[in-house]
Amino acid sequence: MIIRELQEEIIRLKKEKGVCILAHAYQRHDIWEIADYVGDSFGLSQKAAEVNDKIVIMCGVRFMAETVKILSPNKTVFLANPAAGCPMADQMDSDLIAQMKEDLPDYTIVAYINTTAELKKICDVCVTSSSAVNIMRNIPNDKILFIPDCNLGDWVSKQLPEKEIKLVRGGCPTHLRITRHDVERARKLYPNAPILMHPECHPSIVEMADFVGSTTEIMSYAEKGTDSEYIIGTENSIVEHLQFKCPEKRFYALSKDCVCHNMQATTLTDVYNCLKGVGGEEIVMSDELISSSRKCIDEMLRLGQ
Ligand code: 13P
Ligand code: SF4
Repeated sequence: MIIRELQEEIIRLKKEKGVCILAHAYQRHDIWEIADYVGDSFGLSQKAAEVNDKIVIMCGVRFMAETVKILSPNKTVFLANPAAGCPMADQMDSDLIAQMKEDLPDYTIVAYINTTAELKKICDVCVTSSSAVNIMRNIPNDKILFIPDCNLGDWVSKQLPEKEIKLVRGGCPTHLRITRHDVERARKLYPNAPILMHPECHPSIVEMADFVGSTTEIMSYAEKGTDSEYIIGTENSIVEHLQFKCPEKRFYALSKDCVCHNMQATTLTDVYNCLKGVGGEEIVMSDELISSSRKCIDEMLRLGQ
């Protein structure tokens, strides 16, 4: 079978079985092409809750499939590749955060959406990279403990000097691979291209960027911008996706090493096997875990209004 035939078979099967396929923006382009929706983790879980399909396949990493299940507890949710985890979400130990919560009773605990359901359960408010500044600004308490990404946390702290934000050591190993040398080299090679960077990068690199934003914000900036070329400081799949969307512009990877192997792990064959009932993993969570981990997501929605 060639790629096109496999994609056509996936599209036929998903229609026949009433399955909605979600793909995070960092998925490969061949996965984008068979997905019903592409976006960031929170946007995708909102979409999953809206659609009529009762079965959802998430092409992304485990915490994303969990978030879909939390927002759509009555749907059957599959993670297309069970081995796709997020090292940042898995970094933080829920016992450590529970202890910190006890030690810091006057702090509001804010979790990046890139956390496990077990951690969300302990936290007060959830944020995404697009909503973090706005949501944290709207939290009435000025004392905030932010987990697990201290780079995103540092970026938010700089936007909100009025808040006292404590950080815990953690971060995304993919975005941390971008170095100063990469920035200097890219500037020299493409002097007219602005550098667009994700706040999961190290603060010393973020300060060298022309624009800082979430993946969705980076894509929208590059699509709408008047520059003819852009240097992309986030997961490298975005360079290719932007090039397909805007063939008249040029996009360059800031670092050849900014590749998330967990995100790239999902293949068309994983999706096909999942649709055939011989692959993927159904996300099973207790009612108690779903309702307790949902509270911090509901709080984000309330504070974002
Ligand atoms: P966003 O899609 O919210 O920018 O998150 C980036 C990321 O690392 C997802 O795993
Ligand atoms: Fe996790 Fe980083 Fe990969 Fe996103 S890019 S899934 S935060 S390791």
